[in-house]
Amino acid sequence: MRVLVLGCGQMGSGIAQVCAAAGHSVLVSDVDQQTIDRGRETIHRNLMRTVEKGRLTTAVASEIEARVQMRLAPITELDVDLAIEAVAEDAALKRRLFSELDAALPPAAILASNTSSISITVLGAATERPANVIGMHFMNPVPVMQLVEVIRGIATSDETFAFARRFVEDLGKTAVEVNDFPGFVSNRILMPMLNEAMFACMEGVATPQAIDAVMKLGMNHPMGPLELADFIGLDTCLAIMQVLHDGFGDPKYRPCPLLAKMVAAGYLGRKTGRGFFQYP
Ligand code: CAA
Repeated sequence: MRVLVLGCGQMGSGIAQVCAAAGHSVLVSDVDQQTIDRGRETIHRNLMRTVEKGRLTTAVASEIEARVQMRLAPITELDVDLAIEAVAEDAALKRRLFSELDAALPPAAILASNTSSISITVLGAATERPANVIGMHFMNPVPVMQLVEVIRGIATSDETFAFARRFVEDLGKTAVEVNDFPGFVSNRILMPMLNEAMFACMEGVATPQAIDAVMKLGMNHPMGPLELADFIGLDTCLAIMQVLHDGFGDPKYRPCPLLAKMVAAGYLGRKTGRGFFQYP
């Protein structure tokens, strides 16, 4: 299958890698050359790590890399079967890209979004083919995590859903069907927990290290909530909390002021070297 991935950040490059590993031919497009270079490097590093562990031959790793092409945006007319959008959590940007994809891709192509919280129904309405629009929400790190939330917008057809589920299963992942409400299931439950950990930190209930130790040692979470927030990206966490807050109009989803302050300062977590923890 020919797959277009929009966005070459940590999610886009991970999605490109798993699609290429499943045998698809992948074109990744991004507006920033540095992001493209970094994405290419990440895929190479991940594959080499798998080769070192003896789970992949160098020849197969090279074939997978060769199936991934990367190109600077904008996209023009393209002959692909599926587009997976994985750009920043910005509803206006995503709506614009969906409208451009609709104009550029064959009428039968499926348009998927890796959005972590933005309405699939809204993205579908930005196109003339809302029946072909669906959410495919991968988890980070994409090559490791088993789950893909598959989200039906109000107009998503059964055929599009069946296509998405089959595609996800062919990647070796598990598709879980979810309806279109703010944050879907994953972030409706995960993000308020991370936000609450930030409130605990802001109020001085405990240090960031102690908060994370409680959740790792006491609840067997692989990462503490503050380390996980840094890993996801604090800008993404803030954007998701805002979607939950706006979407439900319920004050229980108000973003923690410390989170907003850190994002304003450019402390975005692991990707900028500083968040709740430092990453030299
Ligand atoms: N890319 C690719 N592979 C990676 C990786 C990465 N960034 N990080 C780790 N791995 C691989 C390692 O190579 C290793 O592979 P093998 O088991 O095949 O040897 C495996 O993952 C385990 O890695 P480590 O032993 O180095 O480290 P770990 O045991 O501490 O696990 C982790 C790392 C898998 C990331 C683990 O800490 C974890 O599961 N963390 C929580 C991740 C999580 O919750 N993700 C969801 C975030 S929410 C989201 O993505 C949705 C959203 O909308 C915000």
